Amino acid sequence: MTDPTPAAHAAAAAPRVAFPPGFAWGAATAAYQIEGAAAEDGRTPSIWDVFARTPGKVLNGDTGDVAVDHYHRFREDVRLMADLGLTSYRFSLSWPRIQPTGRGPAVERGLDFYRALTDTLLEHGISPVATLYHWDLPQDLEEAGGWPVRETAYRFAEYAALAAAALGDRIPVWTTLNEPWCSAFLGYGSGVHAPGRTNPADALKAAHHLNLGHGLAVGALRELLPASAQLSVSLNLHLLRPLTDTPEDHEAVRRIDAVGNRIWTGPMLKGGYPEDLKADTAHLVDWDELVRPGDEAEICRPIDLLCLNYYNPTVVSAPRPELETADAARNDGHGASDHSPWPGSEEIVFHLANDDLTAMGWPIDASGLTDSLVGLQRDFGLPMMVTENGAAFEDVVGPDGEVHDPERLRYVRLHLEAVAEAIAAGADVRGYYLWSFLDNFEWAYGYSKRFGIVHVDYATQRRTPKSSAAWYSGVIRRGGLD
Ligand code: FCB
Repeated sequence: MTDPTPAAHAAAAAPRVAFPPGFAWGAATAAYQIEGAAAEDGRTPSIWDVFARTPGKVLNGDTGDVAVDHYHRFREDVRLMADLGLTSYRFSLSWPRIQPTGRGPAVERGLDFYRALTDTLLEHGISPVATLYHWDLPQDLEEAGGWPVRETAYRFAEYAALAAAALGDRIPVWTTLNEPWCSAFLGYGSGVHAPGRTNPADALKAAHHLNLGHGLAVGALRELLPASAQLSVSLNLHLLRPLTDTPEDHEAVRRIDAVGNRIWTGPMLKGGYPEDLKADTAHLVDWDELVRPGDEAEICRPIDLLCLNYYNPTVVSAPRPELETADAARNDGHGASDHSPWPGSEEIVFHLANDDLTAMGWPIDASGLTDSLVGLQRDFGLPMMVTENGAAFEDVVGPDGEVHDPERLRYVRLHLEAVAEAIAAGADVRGYYLWSFLDNFEWAYGYSKRFGIVHVDYATQRRTPKSSAAWYSGVIRRGGLD
């Protein structure tokens, strides 16, 4: 044997920034964004299939019909995850694949896909984390009223029970909803997401029924899953900063915090909707009619983990006449629309935190992740996971066939340092899931934005791990950052 090289010594040394033992090193995806096979094995359209087919809604008319064909290539994809050393993988279950019309019995062929996927993950020592709802409501339920109607919450709990009964023996961690803020306010408020409706009252009603669906689903899952199962929800809580230290800008923070964050954490974790949220939106909905006796207790069923999706901080101010351009209003990072996704607080102005931007136009500021985790630990005292964090950049395959993405590597490094800082400050963070494992269908942006650490050539479906993937793999191997 030859002497170890200096590089080998470095690799064996303890990392400069270490993470707790058992920390989950993951990557995340969502069903509609990667699976394809949109009409196979009994799957029927979701609101995203219909929205994507509506002219003008998704860039270039892209759809998830084929996506990255993960439905047929999952074995190859899981092998790639194993090669990179991922210890966990977060994916979502497609409701219209499991329960096509949102009613009635489960479709075995749909469940078989998830059985095979989870078995393959487990064979490779990768722990599955399943999200029940990553935005793909069965279209039939939208036609019956969608999330603005109460019945949808009960439909969701029934679907959750079907999924848990079939897959509960092999999935240890479940999250109910992914980013319900987007489902309610982009789906029914600004209309930039499916189903593309633009009614502020409906958006608020959708929010309540998503909350209720979460609570009912937690109840159903607890009955069916082993006692060791961990239940959660993935929220895109906005880390808010006032533009200036004036009372007016602090009031802007309060308003967006109410309709962006506390509309979820209030009922889910504190037992009820915040009074200031109800006051800010009283002209739009009658909360006493919307929230029935017992709803808040149902929504507040205990969960085991709080999952955070974080991309950038959000800077807000009171209306600034000199800044009141369409651009300023759009700086919330959630896509352009003539309709606001902030019911009752439409006049608040959003500002970019800095001009160090990703290809989405989202500012890079990892301190917001530390602040989020430390604040959530203080406010709720739950173990946490970061279930999404990552960045889109203009990746290209080089002449050497490789994809060099130093900007993504830098983004992830900064954010992992931010997680480590939060842990050092006392936050109980148990895992990190990079968004995303593969390039995929980025909602209204279609295939134009690449978030993957694995590049996908959409014409050939060829997978090429980017340099960030090799780097992340090293981080996982060392258990931390050098
Ligand atoms: C989140 C979504 C995820 C992906 C990333 C970029 O809001 O949950 O599906 O689109 O943004």
